[in-house]
Amino acid sequence: MTNATSQAVLTVQGLRVEIPTRRGLLLALDDVSFTIAPGEILGFVGESGAGKSLTGMAILGLLDPPGRVASGEIRLGERRIDQLSQREMRRIRGKEIGAVFQDPLMSLNPLLQIGDQLVETIRTHLPVSQEEAVQRALALMRAVGIPAPEARFTAYPHQFSGGMRQRIVIALALCAEPRLVVADEPTTALDVSIQAQVLQLLRQLCRDKGTSMLLVTHDMGVIAETADRVAVMYAGRIVEIGAVEDVIRNPVHPYTRGLMGAIPSLKAVTGPLAQIDGAMPRLNARPVGCAFNPRCAYATDQCRAQSPRLESHQQRKVACWLASALPVKPAELETE
Ligand SMILES: Nc1ncnc2c1ncn2[C@@H]1O[C@H](COP(=O)(O)OP(=O)(O)OP(=O)(O)O)[C@@H](O)[C@H]1O
Ligand SMILES: [Mg+2]
Repeated sequence: MTNATSQAVLTVQGLRVEIPTRRGLLLALDDVSFTIAPGEILGFVGESGAGKSLTGMAILGLLDPPGRVASGEIRLGERRIDQLSQREMRRIRGKEIGAVFQDPLMSLNPLLQIGDQLVETIRTHLPVSQEEAVQRALALMRAVGIPAPEARFTAYPHQFSGGMRQRIVIALALCAEPRLVVADEPTTALDVSIQAQVLQLLRQLCRDKGTSMLLVTHDMGVIAETADRVAVMYAGRIVEIGAVEDVIRNPVHPYTRGLMGAIPSLKAVTGPLAQIDGAMPRLNARPVGCAFNPRCAYATDQCRAQSPRLESHQQRKVACWLASALPVKPAELETE
């Protein structure tokens, strides 16, 4: 394990994020731990408010105050990055960790020509001349599928379509060849017809460069197609994490089992699946014990009393007292 950890591009250990509010302290992330290996794509799924974006923002050093990392560690390679100054963090963002958010306009300066934004970012992070930076910017525009990049170089963000803007954001995120990209719902705001293309582009560029990615999405179909491993979040915790194939074909946590019901198109999940009634608890109304227990068909007294830790189970990790006791989902239903 020590070995795997030391090779990881990103190591998050026991991450706890608190948000002080007038009505009390909210525990937004609780004991979140995971690693991302070089070149690996780790997907994060879970319903709205589970803590997916906060996890990405904590890694990027972009938590909105008063939200803060209260304990735990975030390491990029060997280097601890959760206690760096704003200035040091700004340097790491862009150079070592790229970011792609849902809304491309969040990442683009509306007053700057597209080409200048790329050149500026390239020159901030790489020791190249103006002319080299221009050539790199044009090459990047080409690589992300912008037609006639020379002609588009002087255009402003509003002159691009949503999809083209997100391609530019991807170019910006990757221009300094970072080790990790945090992509939070990178295609959700785009026209459905181009979502797959843009995702495919992001994945291809990461694969080509060996860049790791943390990919947040609501869409299990996207995870199935894009990620190597998947982390399922519920109420600020990871409840299951493992290889995409394993988790999709044979989800263990009752919450993951329920989520899989949301992707009827995958033949691996055609077995009978429990519907999840109810809603995820608010941060200030987390039930005692396992946060999922009020919605769980299998909950026992132990589940209502103690919160399970994320522990190894077969090839993955699961936070469920009943991980070994639950019926295995009938994999025989597969036709392959
Ligand atoms: N500044 C804040 N003040 C209070 N609560 C916050 C703040 N920021 C986030 N939260 C809460 O933290 C929880 C996790 O939020 P987060 O944005 O990470 O969810 P998410 O999993 O990304 O959801 P979605 O799928 O809707 O994007 C939510 O309950 C949210 O309301
Ligand atoms: Mg989010």
